[in-house]
Amino acid sequence: MCGIVGAIAERNVVNILLEGLKRLEYRGYDSAGVALVDADQKLHRVRRIGKVQELQNALAESPLKGSIGIAHTRWATHGGVTDKNAHPHFSSEQIAVVHNGIIENYQSLREILRSDGYDFQSETDTETIAHTIHKEMKQAESLLDAVCKSVKQFHGAYGTVVMDKNDPETLVVARSGSPLVIGLGIGENFIASDQLALLPVTRRFIFLEEGDVAEITRTSVRILDKNGEEVERQIHDSEIEHDAGDKAGYRHYMLKEIYEQPIVVRNALQGRLNSEGLLPGIYGDDADMILQKVRHVQIVACGTSYHAGMTARYWLEQYANVSCNVEIASEFRYRKSFVHDNSLLITISQSGETADTLAALRLAKELGYMSSLTVCNVPGSSLVRESDLSFMTKAGAEIGVASTKAFTTQLTALLMLTLKLGQCNGMSKEQANAIVNALNTLPAKLEATLNLDKEIGQLAEEFADKHHALFLGRGDQYPIAMEGALKLKEISYIHAEAYASGELKHGPLALIDDEMPVIVVAPNNELLEKLKSNVEEVRARGGIMYVFADKDANFESDATMRVINIPHVDEIVAPIVYTLPLQLLSYYVAVIKGTDVDQPRNLAKSVTVE
Ligand code: F6R
Repeated sequence: MCGIVGAIAERNVVNILLEGLKRLEYRGYDSAGVALVDADQKLHRVRRIGKVQELQNALAESPLKGSIGIAHTRWATHGGVTDKNAHPHFSSEQIAVVHNGIIENYQSLREILRSDGYDFQSETDTETIAHTIHKEMKQAESLLDAVCKSVKQFHGAYGTVVMDKNDPETLVVARSGSPLVIGLGIGENFIASDQLALLPVTRRFIFLEEGDVAEITRTSVRILDKNGEEVERQIHDSEIEHDAGDKAGYRHYMLKEIYEQPIVVRNALQGRLNSEGLLPGIYGDDADMILQKVRHVQIVACGTSYHAGMTARYWLEQYANVSCNVEIASEFRYRKSFVHDNSLLITISQSGETADTLAALRLAKELGYMSSLTVCNVPGSSLVRESDLSFMTKAGAEIGVASTKAFTTQLTALLMLTLKLGQCNGMSKEQANAIVNALNTLPAKLEATLNLDKEIGQLAEEFADKHHALFLGRGDQYPIAMEGALKLKEISYIHAEAYASGELKHGPLALIDDEMPVIVVAPNNELLEKLKSNVEEVRARGGIMYVFADKDANFESDATMRVINIPHVDEIVAPIVYTLPLQLLSYYVAVIKGTDVDQPRNLAKSVTVE
C-alpha cells in the first residue's frame, strides 16, 4: 500500500528519498513521485506511473537538488493510475502534500474548496488536503497551525507530510489511522510510513500516535497530541536486526523468505522455550495474571494471518481446552457479536498496521473484552502499542508481498500460546511435553522439508497451463489448504479454492475433471482414513491429484495421483511443516508463469485502508 518518505537536511535529499521509496516498493504501489524545494526556494515535482525505477530514470535525465523533500508510492484508491493522480499534490504551487489513507469526506470538501476558487488537477482525495491547508495558511500563524486547523476538517484515515515552499526549514506531519515514524539523524531528520525506508540513514525512531501532529526541522521535533498539547514521545532504537533489503543471492525475496523459515522459527522459540517448557515472563510482567483468567479466546485477523488464527482454534480447543472463535476482522468490526466472560481478544498481524484488524481491536476495547493480545511481527506497530499484551513473532522484515515466514512464525507463536493457556487450564504434563518436544524439533523438520525444493519445482510445470486448482485438507490441515490456495492465487493468478475435504460431496465434486488439479495435504493423523475416502471420491470422477503425504500414510503414485512424501513429523506441528511445500509450489508455478512474484498485481503488503 502507499508509502511515504520525507527528509530535511543540509545535504541533497533526493537519493535518500529514492532509496526510501525503493525500500517501500514491497508494500505494493502503482506510481511514484517526489517534490523538493531547491536553494532558490522553488518547488519542483516529478511523478511517474509504474516502478520507482521510472521515477529514478526521469530524475537521472533532469536531476533535482534540494535539502527538503517529500516522496510517495501510490496505491490507487480514488482516481485511476495516472501521473496526475500520483503524489505529491500541490496547492497554488506553494503547498506540497503526500498522503496515505482515505479522506472519506473529500467530496464535500471539494465542493467547499471549489466555491472558494480552488481548481482540482487530480481525481484524488489527497488534493483536498493540499487545498485545505493552503486555505488555512491565509490566517494561520505557521504551517503547523494550518495543519492543526485542517486535520479537524478531515474524516477518515491519514498519514500525511506537508511542505511549504515559503518555509523550506520545516516539514509538518499528521497521523490518524495511517502509521508514520520520525527518523532522527544528526543535524537532519526524516519521516516515513515504515522504519524500513529510513534504515540507511538512521536507527533512532519516534512512532507517532493517533492524532499527533508534528513539526520537524533539521534539528528539532515538536509533537502535539490529539488535544493540541505538546508531548514528548519515546525514542526507540530500531529492533530490526538485519537489513532485509537484500535478496542474499536468491532470485526473489519470497524464495529467500521461504528458506529463512527454519532460522526464524528457531528465533521465535529462542529465549522462550527450552527442553523443559516455556520460560517464565515471556508474555510480559502482568501477563500471567491475565492469562490465568482466560476462559474464551476471540481471534481476529485478515488473509494469511486469519489462516493462522483458524489453525490456532484447532489447537486451543484440542490441547488447551479453551473455547475459541476466529473471525475475519472486516466482518467482526461491523457486526454485533457476543462477548464471552473472561474473553481474550487476540489479533494476529504481520504488519501490525492492518486497518480492519486495528479497528477490531479498538472495538473490542469498547465491547469490554477482558484483555487483548497481539501476535505481531513489527515492534512498535500500532497493534503492539494499542494491545495490552504483545508477543513478537521475530520473523524479521518480510518483503515479499505474499506472506510466508510471517505465517509459520505466527503458527509457532500460537502453538506456544496454546501451551501457555493449556497450562493455565490444567493441561496434563504428557500433553505439555508432547507440545514442547514437537516445537523443539520443528526447525530441523522445516529444514528437511525444504529438500523437496527440486521435486516441487518439477511438479510446478504441470500447473503452469491450468486455470483452476482445488486444495483439500481436514482438521488443522484445512486452514493450511486455505493458505495454500491463497498463495497460489496471489502470485500465480490461478484461481484456487480450498475445501475441508468432507465438504467435497456437498458441491465441489461437480468441478472435478482432468483440468482441475486437486492438491491434498495428508499427514498421518487420525483423520487419514477419512481423507483417503475423499481421495477415492476424486479419483472416481477422473480427477488428477497431487498428494503431500507422510510416508507412513501409504499413498502410492499412479496415473491419476502423484505423491510427494513429506518427512515424518509430529502431528502437533504438521500444519506448520506442510505449509512449506505449498509455498514452494506456488512460488515455482509463479516463476514458470513469469508473474511478478514479490509484488503481485493489485496487492499491497500492508493494508492500512479498509
Ligand atoms: C497474503 C497476505 C495477506 C495478509 C493480510 C493481513 O500473503 O500477506 O493476506 O496476511 O493482508 O496482513 P497482516 O498480517 O499484516 O495484518
